[in-house]
Amino acid sequence: MTAVQRDHRSQVFHAGAWCDAADATVPVGGLALRYGVSVFEGVRLYRRADRSGVRPFLLDAHVRRLGYSLALSRIPDPGIDKIPELVDDLVLRNGIDDDAYLRIAVNAVNPGLMDAEVEPALTISATPMGRKRWLRDGAWEGMRLQVSLWQRACDLAFPSAAKGIPNYGGPRLALLDAKAAGFDGCVLTNAAGRLCEAPTAALFLVRDGELLTPALTEGVLPSITRRWVLDRASALGLTARETVLGRIDAYQADEAFLCGTGLEFAPVRSFDGHAVRAWPDSPVTRALVGRYFEEVRS
Ligand SMILES: Cc1ncc(COP(=O)(O)O)c(C=O)c1O
Repeated sequence: MTAVQRDHRSQVFHAGAWCDAADATVPVGGLALRYGVSVFEGVRLYRRADRSGVRPFLLDAHVRRLGYSLALSRIPDPGIDKIPELVDDLVLRNGIDDDAYLRIAVNAVNPGLMDAEVEPALTISATPMGRKRWLRDGAWEGMRLQVSLWQRACDLAFPSAAKGIPNYGGPRLALLDAKAAGFDGCVLTNAAGRLCEAPTAALFLVRDGELLTPALTEGVLPSITRRWVLDRASALGLTARETVLGRIDAYQADEAFLCGTGLEFAPVRSFDGHAVRAWPDSPVTRALVGRYFEEVRS
């Protein structure tokens, strides 16, 4: 068992110092718990192919997005430029030598009313994390998704580009309802009824060999894995387009998948019981997944 697996005793950077995970707490009276003044990033640490250690995947992009989330949420910068060296330190202190998930959070830890000035605390922790069920041990399991009746909060309600705790309340309910109805997960729509994203992952459809994903203006998080897919498409001989998609596009997809840092990739086999046509061959999805794991281990 590696140090990081002994979760409560693993070393965590919290509010300017290193401590045991069990001691990294935020006060119940603080603004993070009172009003959800809290933003975060999830970053994957991948073991290198030659087992010479781990490296964070696309850390710069995650730090940049954390900066945008802080600014959009009017939370002062607690010193996020130090994150790369803190991550290196975290890896050493915990002896991390295999795939893991970093959570980098900024919480408002001071008490006060809603309009109080914010005292931000940066927390960085790691948990072991390999493949999820959909790809675990070479599996190719497809998700049965529901197109949820719950909507993703639109930019008039909350900035969708901010990866903040308040953005997850509705999607959590959508996921619980989808599971209670027998689905594996769901896709939320926006106020116009168009497809957005899953509670914690971006959505892609494939139609006539083309990759399609809802545009950022549809109210989705600017996902870093989504960006990676868009950037790699041409190297795989594919075209990719950010566009506007409806429920019927999902019902008529040749292929579909969800992607995100924690989930990595999950192929989709149906939407509301409508089978995705090329499941389980899913050649485009398989090509992207293959390319992803080559790259993250390189
Ligand atoms: C709402 C939401 N959309 C999409 C994603 C995927 O984003 P990324 O690829 O940057 O992890 C996530 C995961 O963090 C998310 O929480």
